[in-house]
Amino acid sequence: MTANELRRTYIEFFKRHGHAEIKSAPLVPENDPTCLFTTAGMHPLVPFLLGEKHPAGKRLVDVQKCLRTGDIDEVGDPFHLTFFEMLGNWSLGDYFKEEAITLSFNFLTKELGFPISRLMVSCFAGDADAPRDDEAANIWKKLGIPEDRIVFLEKAHNWWGPAGQTGPCGPDTEMFVCFERPDCGPGCGPACNCGKWVEIWNDVFMQYNKTAEGKYEPLAQTNVDTGMGVERVTAFMQGKRSAYETELFTGIFAKIAELSGNPDPIATRGGRIVAEHMRASTFLIADGVRPGNVDQGYVLRRLIRRAIREARQLNIPGMFTTKIADVVIAEYGAVYPEVAAQAAVIREELSREEEKFAATLEHGIKEFDRLIGRIPAHIEHKVISGKNAFFLYETYGFPLELTVEMAKERGFKVDQAGFQDAYKKHQDLSRAGAEQKFKGGLADHSDKTANLHTATHLLHAALRQVLGGHVAQAGSNITAERLRFDFSHPDKMTPEQLAQVEALVNDAIKRDLPISCTEMTVDAAKAAGAIGLFGDKYGETVKVYAMGDVSKEICGGPHAERTGQLGAFKIQKEESSSRGVRRIKAVLG
Ligand code: ALA
Repeated sequence: MTANELRRTYIEFFKRHGHAEIKSAPLVPENDPTCLFTTAGMHPLVPFLLGEKHPAGKRLVDVQKCLRTGDIDEVGDPFHLTFFEMLGNWSLGDYFKEEAITLSFNFLTKELGFPISRLMVSCFAGDADAPRDDEAANIWKKLGIPEDRIVFLEKAHNWWGPAGQTGPCGPDTEMFVCFERPDCGPGCGPACNCGKWVEIWNDVFMQYNKTAEGKYEPLAQTNVDTGMGVERVTAFMQGKRSAYETELFTGIFAKIAELSGNPDPIATRGGRIVAEHMRASTFLIADGVRPGNVDQGYVLRRLIRRAIREARQLNIPGMFTTKIADVVIAEYGAVYPEVAAQAAVIREELSREEEKFAATLEHGIKEFDRLIGRIPAHIEHKVISGKNAFFLYETYGFPLELTVEMAKERGFKVDQAGFQDAYKKHQDLSRAGAEQKFKGGLADHSDKTANLHTATHLLHAALRQVLGGHVAQAGSNITAERLRFDFSHPDKMTPEQLAQVEALVNDAIKRDLPISCTEMTVDAAKAAGAIGLFGDKYGETVKVYAMGDVSKEICGGPHAERTGQLGAFKIQKEESSSRGVRRIKAVLG
């Protein structure tokens, strides 16, 4: 079965079982304070797992684009990916364990025809926060999974979420398939990492909300959140070891072979890095990310620049990135129309970044060798100082991680803390903030964040009034303390413009406008003049939040009830976020 067939079979199966298909949300989460990327299918659904009504109903199914940066340095080995696709089905306070597990079992054994002999499952072993999940295990047994194929594991393995520090979470039951490899010894199974038993699907029973104090409170509704990896299942079905060997990458590797003259780039670490990073970069640009020095833009820059360096080592001639992106666009455009629609932007951004980096790469490598050459060979702890790593970053555009990787290849370490010091001293744009976000999570849905989120709508409307209709949201990030809003606009704002925007927002707050929410179709929302940032993310029906005559915007929430609740709005900073995108940080007093 191909990946295409797998996606279709999955969606159709769950539709037959009463699920509504929803579209993949963008790779950059909207209105989440501390997550750079969508890392799982549940991510865009958090408000609905917490009890808000989803316009498409209580049973949903989709295939979600995801990006995880945790394993970025592992990419290059035969298995790891940053970008991947996750199939998921959800029950929002509808069915629970019995039906979820039965659906999973039937899909795996009947739709995909996996023999029971190649399946194992794990269930939660229980601890002080939640009991052992005998219920899940008994359902598996009843369905025909032999007892010795069911293992109980602790929280580190069999608990999922919250995606950040707070939010919905719960025990899970995971499904593993057996790849054609020898056992690593007695006890070989889901708990070991030998690569024989690979997790392909996870059914999470989201019945708790983890609070900021670390408590697990029962949720008002019991949910099911599942995630199945398209790449892994495709590989397994085709008797391959990893996604790289499937048709998901065939065209990309064919192009790399053609460009490099190496007939088998899939066998090389560099070839896999180029293929993986170019696929991920193409999807990121399609979702509005631009190469930059902070947050998502920095990750994108890292991916592109690492790919460029590897490509050079494979003897791929310069200006190759668009050639590979074209393959990705051609192969994925039908499943993800945004990739096809953004083709011109993808090419433009990649060319620009490749030109920029190519201009300094050669010199940077020479400088890097010179720095290393200055360190006497007999020294035991070979370290590149933070200052020098920062110099490579500043002058030659080497992301820190690239310097670390190049250093490692030559047996050197990099003083990364020293790099951060040098960086902080040099710029107030702190990358440390971005690093935090890799670990962080979703917004707490407190009044404070709801107020800040509401203020974002007023800010957006005010910016459009003062600067013009070209202003569109390019990103939003909210913490308990402040909002941050990125928007398209070519120039630095003048002090007068900033004062005008601030006054308009405060005026709307003073008028204490009621905030209403109406569900309507995307077309009706557009006809009503709503600004449609999120397209038809929630399917046919969307929620439109209106604030008096000031703002009308498609959004998921959460919001205040009246603008008067917000308090005094103050812009703290206006700066560049990336090319053509400005950033405002503001607080409510
Ligand atoms: N959210 C769950 C996961 O990512 C399904 O594994």
